[in-house]
Amino acid sequence: MREQPALVSILFVCLGNICRSPSAEGVFRAQVETAGLADTVTTDSAGTYGFHIGRPPDQRALAAARRRGVDLSGLRARQVAVEDFSRFDLILAMDRDNLADLMALCPEEERHRVRLFLDFAPGFDIRDVPDPYYGGEDDFDFMLDLIEAGARGLLDHLCAAHL
Ligand code: 4NP
Repeated sequence: MREQPALVSILFVCLGNICRSPSAEGVFRAQVETAGLADTVTTDSAGTYGFHIGRPPDQRALAAARRRGVDLSGLRARQVAVEDFSRFDLILAMDRDNLADLMALCPEEERHRVRLFLDFAPGFDIRDVPDPYYGGEDDFDFMLDLIEAGARGLLDHLCAAHL
């Protein structure tokens, strides 16, 4: 039997691709697998800047995710490329600065694919996942609270719209 291509592909984007977007990728991936949709949804993450290319997630992000049963250790940072805008169905920015940077890079005809991640979290007034890089353990835990809610909302949206 021929392998079916994934139906939906999602790219999570933050600044450095070592804290927020790999956490979102890992948490969403875990939810997708629990829902039995591993072969249906492709996930990846990237940063708008290239400071940390090739590095694993920040130790604090690894530890915070591990406390919730999510393993991010296999992920490596990369920078967003123009081809990503045609390769992925949805390119999800973790905050509005990331969104502006993505829009500046994105070809006009692909802009409808670029959205704010927390727009998928229903009933939230918070629009940005705050950058925890200069914060402490609590900031990483709060980041994961927001990411778990956004990922759940995103999965519900995909199930309703596509899957
Ligand atoms: P992220 O966090 O965008 O969530 O990966 C950051 C990581 C690194 C830096 C800033 C934010 N930095 O300035 O190196």
